[in-house]
Amino acid sequence: MKRLIPFLLMLAFTGIMLTGCNGNHGSTKKKPLKYEMNMKKNLFGTVDGKQVFEFTLTNKNGVEVKILNYGGLVTQLLVPDKQGNFDDVVLGYDSLQDYIKDTPYFGAIVGRYGNRIAKGQFTIDGQTYKLALNNGPNHLHGGIKGFDKIVWDAEDFIKPEAAGVILTHLSPDNEEGYPGNLKAKITYTLTNDNELKIDYEAETDKSTVINLTHHSYFNLKGQGNGNILGHHMQILADRFTPVDATLIPTGELKDVQSTLMDFRKPESIGSRIEQVEGGYDHNFVLNNTDGKMRLVAKVAEPKTGRKMEVLTDQPGIQFYSGNFLDGSNIGKGGKPYLKHFGFCLETQHFPDSPNQANFPSTLLKPGETYKTQTIYRFGVTE
Ligand code: GLA
Repeated sequence: MKRLIPFLLMLAFTGIMLTGCNGNHGSTKKKPLKYEMNMKKNLFGTVDGKQVFEFTLTNKNGVEVKILNYGGLVTQLLVPDKQGNFDDVVLGYDSLQDYIKDTPYFGAIVGRYGNRIAKGQFTIDGQTYKLALNNGPNHLHGGIKGFDKIVWDAEDFIKPEAAGVILTHLSPDNEEGYPGNLKAKITYTLTNDNELKIDYEAETDKSTVINLTHHSYFNLKGQGNGNILGHHMQILADRFTPVDATLIPTGELKDVQSTLMDFRKPESIGSRIEQVEGGYDHNFVLNNTDGKMRLVAKVAEPKTGRKMEVLTDQPGIQFYSGNFLDGSNIGKGGKPYLKHFGFCLETQHFPDSPNQANFPSTLLKPGETYKTQTIYRFGVTE
């Protein structure tokens, strides 16, 4: 009996070891990580007496996006690099307070009008509307309290192949000076193809102007991990809209040929930026605008092999190279965001369209539906 007990114990121990081995190391192949489409909702804080939720969407590849119904902010976007290592590729803050205090539109939905309207005014049917001058002599990104600073109503959904958040807001007539009660709806969808899809919709009861966009600052090396000057940028645009000193388009649609704005072939962001006064902050006139979705831009980061493609039905895209970042914004994980630490690709109608007769119209009339889509698609280079 005395000899049997150690023997039995040994057998039991071996059994545990074998079970353990089978469970964890039984196969020589690296076990694929298993995820499935998932959605989590957490209370994140309160603004204007309204609850702000953080929605976490994860797809079957482990790509994860966090979205707030405050400002429609994308606060985190985890995507893999060539080795399968995940990093957060958007700039932002850890706390709601930081977003409220001071943000250069990190991850935001921008509206009612993305980018600038000269002298903050426009005229519809003989009536002139005046907006806040919040950017030198001009109006920028919807005004003082634009769509980036409101608490949206939110509903989430999940299907096997996609998960998302539907944000709605009824913007009252004259909000930030814009005419018409505007019903706005933004749908964020994460798909199993590693796409972050944004659907924009709006209706009005009075003629108005509209130009919604999304303002994530991307850094495919991971947020806070240096600048974006080594990223390769390609923008499928033969023309761009040159601007005056206050960044209002002159009205010209200029050929990019032999200019610093020629990104028709991939070009590193840093290669010519020193020659661009202030850095890139320009609207590109995208090719093949016929209202259909098409690929309009590709960005690749050589070291990590991460790439991002942008698809949209919109006529323009604002390429902004984070020129105004100066280290004063301390981002996620305490990382200071210095000049050029992120880039934005804001799909849009051209800046100041309400005052430029030769630009595609941004007028929305009662009975019409504004409906546009943009997709940010992530992958790795071959
Ligand atoms: C847009 C504008 C820039 C700047 C940023 C926000 O991209 O074009 O000039 O205002 O937003 O800082």
